[in-house]
Amino acid sequence: MGSVSAKKGVIVLVPYCLQGHMTPMLQLASILHSKGFSIIVAHTKFSSPNPSDHPEFIFHALPDKLNGFDTSFMNLLNVMEAINSNCGGPLVDYLVEIMKDKGQVISCIIHDAIMYFAEAVASQLNLPSMVLRTSNVAFMESHRDILRLHSENRFPLPDSELENPVPGLDPLRFKDLPVSVSSRIHDKIIEFFESYMNIRSNAAIIWNTTQVLEKYALNKLHHHYKVPSFAVGPFHKMVPASSSTTSYINEDRGCIEWLDKQAPNSVLYMSLGSLSTIDEKELEETAWGLANSDQPFLWVIRPSSVNGSGWIEHLPEGFQEMVGDRGLIVKWAPQKEVLAHPAVGGFWSHCGWNSTLESICEAVPMICRPCFSDQIVNSRYITHVWKVGLELEQPSDRRVVEKTIRRLMVADSEGKEMRQRMLDLKTQIESSVQKGGSSYNSLNDLVNIVLIPLP
Ligand code: UDX
Repeated sequence: MGSVSAKKGVIVLVPYCLQGHMTPMLQLASILHSKGFSIIVAHTKFSSPNPSDHPEFIFHALPDKLNGFDTSFMNLLNVMEAINSNCGGPLVDYLVEIMKDKGQVISCIIHDAIMYFAEAVASQLNLPSMVLRTSNVAFMESHRDILRLHSENRFPLPDSELENPVPGLDPLRFKDLPVSVSSRIHDKIIEFFESYMNIRSNAAIIWNTTQVLEKYALNKLHHHYKVPSFAVGPFHKMVPASSSTTSYINEDRGCIEWLDKQAPNSVLYMSLGSLSTIDEKELEETAWGLANSDQPFLWVIRPSSVNGSGWIEHLPEGFQEMVGDRGLIVKWAPQKEVLAHPAVGGFWSHCGWNSTLESICEAVPMICRPCFSDQIVNSRYITHVWKVGLELEQPSDRRVVEKTIRRLMVADSEGKEMRQRMLDLKTQIESSVQKGGSSYNSLNDLVNIVLIPLP
């Protein structure tokens, strides 16, 4: 375990316990550590990160009372509620202990937006706090409209409105809002959104995003929230090269050797991240669409990500014989390395925000198969704002799957233009993280504000 020797002070980070949230929080930890801060990661006992991945940080597990609780994805909202109710007291006790008994000075608490109890703790202990938003600005903005529509009693929305644009949220349509708009929205969801959106007037927001992608949304944000906001992303391009990553599933590194044998830009990499699931029918149609497309592919199928099966036992009969060594299926891949590999020419993705950033940073155009929440918003931005991906219109139709793969991977003018736009974004992002770039400057501003806390 690391020990705290505060050079610039101690920052306490409070991550949420899912891969897509833990990864950016630990990346931010590495960035701030490289700037001279000591880091304490106060995390839930449930789904805790592996401290040996980061011996330079102190890890402290908060008792979350989730033992015996239903922690399945279907119960996610209750899990978040339980964490926010149960972890505040233990965090206060721990911080009091390290400040009073060990005499350490805490510069700031930075918490995931979902872990809003930490802000109440900061307020109680009179400590500065900041919130980390692991998704993008457009997604957060869409919540304000959901709350407005709810207050106007507009839910459920009639089918006739679903294709209409949401005023002020172009290019989002009502059906792209990250809730089920065709039904009444449960009070619990509204309560959660209200807590999630509540920004204390003296707090600040850190974003894993960049001016390159969200300049307009970031400007708009300043009109609604008068708090400082720091777009310091993409974090994985800001972290020192020596930093390790934290993965809840073991990476299959054999796929890199397999990629080494493939032609440049020929392989479609496929992954739906750490949470999304598909049904058996979609698995089957995806498999046949892939087989018929004639494209090489590297397909991540997470254990239990196909409903009702352990792994790949529901792949259609004859599929693996038909594709032979043109395709490789793994349980979990070293994704950033895969996307950076010259053989990879396309990414079939659920459009989680980390995956989206990682793909853009390697200029890999995407096929968007969003499943829920911010993924739907991200997909719309990928296809209609940045124009670097194609929407998979009917995931459960093998002909649509085959056609979409060919459109992306076979270098006609559409694929070429998307690839060129990706290259432009990649170049701009590379500049933004260099000295004088927007993310570089934003990080310096963030460090300065932590050193001289907000009033
Ligand atoms: C969750 C939500 O689902 C997502 O919508 C939100 O934006 C963040 O939280 P997740 O579904 O896991 O995240 O998606 P994503 O944000 O893309 O994060 C997945 C991470 O896992 C990425 O950093 C990716 O590099 C990594 N990964 C994924 C691997 O390392 N190997 C894999 O095989 C697949």
